[in-house]
Amino acid sequence: MTLLEIDNLQIDFATSGGTLHAVRGTSMDVREGEIVGIVGESGSGKSVTASAILRLLPGNGIHSGGDIRYRGRSVFSLSAGELRAFRGAEVSMIFQEPGRSFDPIYSVGKAMAETLRAHNGDLSDESVQRRSIELLQEVNVPQPAERLVNFPHQFSGGLLQRIMIALALASDPRLLIADEPTTALDVTIQAGIMDLLLRLRRERNLAILFITHNLALISQIADRLMVMYGGMVLEHGKTADVLSAPRHPYSRALLNSILSFGKHYSRDPLQTIKGSVPNPYRPEPGCPFAPRCPLAHAECTRTAPPLVEEGPAGHGHRCIIPGVKE
Ligand SMILES: Nc1ncnc2c1ncn2[C@@H]1O[C@H](COP(=O)(O)OP(=O)(O)O)[C@@H](O)[C@H]1O
Ligand code: SF4
Ligand SMILES: [Mg+2]
Repeated sequence: MTLLEIDNLQIDFATSGGTLHAVRGTSMDVREGEIVGIVGESGSGKSVTASAILRLLPGNGIHSGGDIRYRGRSVFSLSAGELRAFRGAEVSMIFQEPGRSFDPIYSVGKAMAETLRAHNGDLSDESVQRRSIELLQEVNVPQPAERLVNFPHQFSGGLLQRIMIALALASDPRLLIADEPTTALDVTIQAGIMDLLLRLRRERNLAILFITHNLALISQIADRLMVMYGGMVLEHGKTADVLSAPRHPYSRALLNSILSFGKHYSRDPLQTIKGSVPNPYRPEPGCPFAPRCPLAHAECTRTAPPLVEEGPAGHGHRCIIPGVKE
């Protein structure tokens, strides 16, 4: 069953330099219990798309087109009360910087109590304590009862990220959005968090929308991949199909860049694709990848290539001459 559908979403920002086109017609869906990866270079519109799902766009963000539906209902139609219930009880989000979820002057126990009570104001002190310990156990924080009195700065980055996941689970969401949750962590700690997310999906049937610039990392856990560039999804499909038979030259360039790093769980930015991401103030009228694409020709720069589905079910791309080996 489909939980989330993003349909031709367009998000702009009003800035002193003019209108910035951050998301330019992104479409994707997430089904119950599914792990979907959004991968793409910095600036491709991944975080803005994620924030829009929870209606957490900054004040200068403008929803200028398309829709986001959760269980068939537009999130843009939710009242303030419905939005409060939706955030947490249906969809929770974790970020790269645990600092965004923690107040440094609150102990972890206090932060957990606040989150638990925000969703159920009737909980007794004993229930809050018991539930906090259970949640910390679920994400493998050692000695949870003792650690509730500690403050955020007394935890390592990896443990803090686990506690942030526990906070996100406190309201029993159906979908977890994880925006670069392991980018600041070292390689072994990253692997532990990825294992934790896989277990949570298995045990809770939790759907996860995992956002990263790291194709090698997301390929380990995602059922399907969305390759984002210039505010659009340029290729989508089952992870195995996208990896074994990438149709879009941008996906192939991303794959080549991992092969040339030759290591998994790399934190390095994707440096091997020549050129830089499109200027979001003046996006190309045609294919956003055209200025960097080795196969580009005149037709590519006229209009944005439409989404074409071909090959294995659910594998689609936006390229007019896909699947040619470079
Ligand atoms: N509050 C904002 N005001 C203006 N531009 C923004 C704002 N937030 C993000 N952007 C711009 O939107 C584009 C997409 O950003 P983002 O979604 O954060 O990229 P990603 O997460 O893929 O690295 C970028 O050009 C970024 O500079
Ligand atoms: S549409 Fe043209 S420029 Fe864009 S990826 Fe395909 S070949 Fe390259
Ligand atoms: Mg981002």
